[in-house]
Amino acid sequence: MRRLVIGNWKMNLTLPDALVLAGQVKSFSPEFSGLNLVIAPSHPWLIPVREELGSLPPNLFLSAQSVSSYPHGAYTGDVSAEQLKGVVSHCLIGHSEQRKYHHLKSEDIQSQIRLVLDQDIVPVVCFGEPTKGKGQAVLGSIVGGLEQDLSQLEPDLIERCVFAYEPLWAIGTGDPATPEYIRTVVGTLKDWFRNHYTLEKPSVLYGGSVTAANAKELGTVNQIDGLLVGGASLHAKEFHEICARYGGLL
Ligand code: PGA
Repeated sequence: MRRLVIGNWKMNLTLPDALVLAGQVKSFSPEFSGLNLVIAPSHPWLIPVREELGSLPPNLFLSAQSVSSYPHGAYTGDVSAEQLKGVVSHCLIGHSEQRKYHHLKSEDIQSQIRLVLDQDIVPVVCFGEPTKGKGQAVLGSIVGGLEQDLSQLEPDLIERCVFAYEPLWAIGTGDPATPEYIRTVVGTLKDWFRNHYTLEKPSVLYGGSVTAANAKELGTVNQIDGLLVGGASLHAKEFHEICARYGGLL
């Protein structure tokens, strides 16, 4: 399976800037045949970006940054999974900024996963611990949090998810988790997935202060299946370099 590199643009970029950046990512994506690239613009830019890109190279995809926990109705300001169908192939679920500012609960995460899967959109389920820790206590709290988020979901649904391990203390701080730390956490998680859900090949990305400076080292962490990049994905040159270094081309 190709590794995944997702550029989460968060609440950034005007429409003209978003169109330029999307065009730049499209033009370099064929260089990375070993990677799938995903860009996640803000909701109102999804359709113009899609139109600007025209037919997508086989390894370039579009993602939403969030989705409503409800199928439709009186939820002002929200966007439903059904409305995203045909526009995106992926959707971030439970990003820490969504959890923080929209007070998401585990029931929301479960509902959003079900709703996007019903529309054949791949959920990228984000999770991670709030503070830096060590040893079994932190591993227990990471696995426990994810277990709670997934508790009512059937294994065949969980099998269709991609997961993104993003320690909150590493997001936007310039303080990424070390390769060793990621190996331990994601290795433990993958064992848990295998034992708990008999998932043979769960897909787990790493996110949190990924830059061109650490992408090569992250490429050596076999436990992860890709990267979720925030701030550094807003600059075509840096995002290109991250893909090149992570993909082993530089
Ligand atoms: P960052 O954000 O790369 O800017 O740390 C990652 C994310 O929030 O997905």
